[in-house]
Amino acid sequence: MKKTIPQLIKRYRSGEKLTMLTAYDATFARILDESQIDMILVGDSLGMVIQGNETTIPVTLDEIIYHTRCVSRGTKSALVIADLPFMSYQASRTQAMLAAGRALKDGNADAVKIEGGMEMVETVRLMTAAGIPVIAHIGLKPQTIRMTGNYRIHGKSNEEAESLLAEASAFENAGAFMLLLEGVAAETAAAVTSRVSIPTIGISSGPHCSGQVLVIYDLLGFDPSFHPKYLKV
Ligand code: KIV
Repeated sequence: MKKTIPQLIKRYRSGEKLTMLTAYDATFARILDESQIDMILVGDSLGMVIQGNETTIPVTLDEIIYHTRCVSRGTKSALVIADLPFMSYQASRTQAMLAAGRALKDGNADAVKIEGGMEMVETVRLMTAAGIPVIAHIGLKPQTIRMTGNYRIHGKSNEEAESLLAEASAFENAGAFMLLLEGVAAETAAAVTSRVSIPTIGISSGPHCSGQVLVIYDLLGFDPSFHPKYLKV
């Protein structure tokens, strides 16, 4: 039976940790699904781990939809989340709505994830109002790598922590059903997690989130040169 968002929220409210891993094809999806994983993210990390690019920037919406369809075919119970890729939702709210709609209609996704800050709050509100469940990805946002030039930890200073807290509340108020915290200082991730009443799923964000997400190939240690501190292979 397909897990539902209200079921996951209920489990989060009862104090259970939620689990999310990435997958990009039907076979990995089936294996994760059989392990009772809660959510499978068809991440734009596929640009790196599947396509061999340096960043997630080149990934297209058509590629995400193709992989989401593959994952969806291998999945019976996990929630399947399509990661909207760079420039499939930033150009306008209309573009964002159409991209998210395609992820659900053509990709058979259950929800979408978008990276962003305050500039994306209205987009999340519109998607939610249209019946598209959204995860807001804050903190380290790999799609902004061309601006930032690095993948550093966010929320170490009071100022950054305050702005992450403000973004988290704004996304919750706009209807996001979950937050993804990437590269957020552990104490700030803990503060965000206690500020909001929706689950926070962390990666490289300490132990205090409501759950964790990892890139499956990293978890399995497929890249022997990649040893981030947050990862236990
Ligand atoms: O694209 C992805 O796999 C992600 C995770 C790193 C959270 O966004």
